[in-house]
Amino acid sequence: MKKVLVINGPNLNLLGNRDTRLYGVKTLPEIEKALKSEGNKLGIEVLCFQSNSEGAIIDFIQQNCAEAAGIIINPGALTHYSLALRDVLADVALPCIEVHLSNIYAREEWRQKSVTAPVVTGQISGLGWQGYLLALQYLASALESRKQK
Ligand code: DQA
Repeated sequence: MKKVLVINGPNLNLLGNRDTRLYGVKTLPEIEKALKSEGNKLGIEVLCFQSNSEGAIIDFIQQNCAEAAGIIINPGALTHYSLALRDVLADVALPCIEVHLSNIYAREEWRQKSVTAPVVTGQISGLGWQGYLLALQYLASALESRKQK
């Protein structure tokens, strides 16, 4: 079964309590449960990871990339400055969707820049937790059509 890594960065463990107008009321465990259940329907194993530490996220990607077919990542604030995260995403060269719950382009100027966006397949920003679901559906269909070629 194809495996997709779902990675959440700093402060996303606080979802459900964090500014709910921006980030919604669903907790991270609830989102992860919904993704695993969607993964079951799509025939994709979903492996979830969250850390507040840049190094732990990079270690997780390095340790799991060989077994993975794709990545869904919400890097949180690392989006805006982590060149180390950008490098590892470029190095592993897996299909990767960057997800943001809020629309980062409608927020502060410093949030409108993503250093990771240029090395990922695509970005979903502003669709709330459903952005993760759409990313998973996209990866499932992209991986399926790749198999048929
Ligand atoms: C976020 C947007 C980032 O700017 C912020 O630092 C986050 C969450 C989002 O999902 O909208 O932690 O990635």
